[in-house]
Amino acid sequence: MKILGIETSCDETAAAIVDEDGRVLANLVLSQLEEHRAFGGVVPEIAARAHVEHLHTLIQAAMEDAAVRFDQLDGVAATCGPGLIGGVMVGMVAGKAIAAAHDVPFIAVNHLEGHALTARLTDNIAFPYLLFLVSGGHTQILVAEGVDQYRLWGTTIDDAAGECFDKAAKLMGLPYPGGPNVQKIAAECADEAAARARYPLPRPLIEKNKQDLTALDFSFSGLKTAVRTHVENMPGADDLNRGDIAALACAFQVAVADIMADRARRSLQRFKAEYGVDNPALVIAGGVAANTAIRARLTEECAAHNARMVAPPLNLCSDNAAMIAWAGLERLRAGLSDGLDFKARPRWPLDRGAIKT
Ligand code: KG4
Ligand code: ZN
Repeated sequence: MKILGIETSCDETAAAIVDEDGRVLANLVLSQLEEHRAFGGVVPEIAARAHVEHLHTLIQAAMEDAAVRFDQLDGVAATCGPGLIGGVMVGMVAGKAIAAAHDVPFIAVNHLEGHALTARLTDNIAFPYLLFLVSGGHTQILVAEGVDQYRLWGTTIDDAAGECFDKAAKLMGLPYPGGPNVQKIAAECADEAAARARYPLPRPLIEKNKQDLTALDFSFSGLKTAVRTHVENMPGADDLNRGDIAALACAFQVAVADIMADRARRSLQRFKAEYGVDNPALVIAGGVAANTAIRARLTEECAAHNARMVAPPLNLCSDNAAMIAWAGLERLRAGLSDGLDFKARPRWPLDRGAIKT
């Protein structure tokens, strides 16, 4: 079984082909970083136009890379939400057109399910598992119980983790995209303890009753505000000292890692109790999962709780189409496909009940 996947929900135009053995036959990602850099963030209209401009050549190139003809495809999967609706429609319509022309099933994929199922593509993880989805738009703790079956245990009450990285980076005068640049400059800080002492930062909700295993929400806006205050108090507002910024970036990263570790502890304990699994897997997905400090901290926390941390390789953590093709394949195998009248969804929670339990 070979599935073409298409991803256009944000600022990456991507096309990939995977097969049922989990082989990624082609995986092309065209980043629009340059188009958006001048604006310090993703501009929806520019993103949609860039998808229109590049998608067809990218799909063609992916098919050539995989040495697969369109009539050899068993299905076409496209991200149909959540995301920037103009871009989502470009990929969705392209996917429907190819599926219709070659008379194969069309699979409407939730971008978040793409992230959620990546660990099954890369590490063959069995259900149920615990999932930390941390990206620019989402910060969620979910239990993946099966294809199309998720339980939402925690989410952010304000900013997403990646958004917080991006906003903090901007405040620190670091270029877009924020996350990788915070990590890069933080690596220049040689003394983490001194950086933490010099730039104290809050860990919102971390003190909330430590025994309450259902206290799994996040809040990042207070952390961002504290970064702003530290930057404003730095000498030479127009020409910030690189060493100061490196120390602040380091302290910031540690704060986010501490918050994640606290939620990992609570959710692992809860998962073990509710699912009776002694050696659970905690999967991290989304762009922020690329952060090495956060990965290291979560690995420690998992080890302390007899759990395995599973982190897909970096190129499959950030937005890509292999995860969409794979999610499409899993859905098709489970007997799920969609009509050509499927409507793009700007908002599309993974947990359909969306009731936090
Ligand atoms: O999953 P993703 O590629 O796109 C979506 O939001 O769906 O995630 C992008 C986010 C951005 O906010 C970016 O700053 C953040 O992930 N990010 C990072 C790192 N790499 C990307 N944040 C922290 N450290 C990183 N190394
Ligand atoms: Zn994403």
